[in-house]
Amino acid sequence: MGEETLASTTNNAMMANELNTLIRLNFDAIEAYTSAIERLENADYRQTLEEFRADHIRHVDELKELVHWMGAAPAKTGDAMQILTRGKVALGNLRGDKGILQAMKSNEDITNAVYEKEIGKLRYSQDMADVLKYHLDDERRHRDWLVRTLETLA
Ligand SMILES: [Fe+2]
Repeated sequence: MGEETLASTTNNAMMANELNTLIRLNFDAIEAYTSAIERLENADYRQTLEEFRADHIRHVDELKELVHWMGAAPAKTGDAMQILTRGKVALGNLRGDKGILQAMKSNEDITNAVYEKEIGKLRYSQDMADVLKYHLDDERRHRDWLVRTLETLA
């Protein structure tokens, strides 16, 4: 194996690891959204959160494709350590729409921060960077909606 091939193989393995972190983060987000949707009383909020959850499901599918493309195995589950602080269990103890939306907002603070960190970290190809930036746009939109909606509940 030539030096250049070895370097790109190592880089690919590192990037696949990083992408798997994002897959686990998205699995955690899907679980948290499911938990939130089950508990919200307001039907409009539920519908919006269902759309956000669908974005996270799509993110998982797109990230899986990238990991396959790099010749690695995609993560199949969320993180046992729970990347998100307001996971399924924490949400299960909350009552009231405001508290649930606040918990999802702190989750989205984390998804935004993790995506921003990942995008700044690695030498992704342009195509891959575009996918991650597109995901970050979704994350920003989710967080903005939660911030704006919580303002109306203040
Ligand atoms: Fe999100």
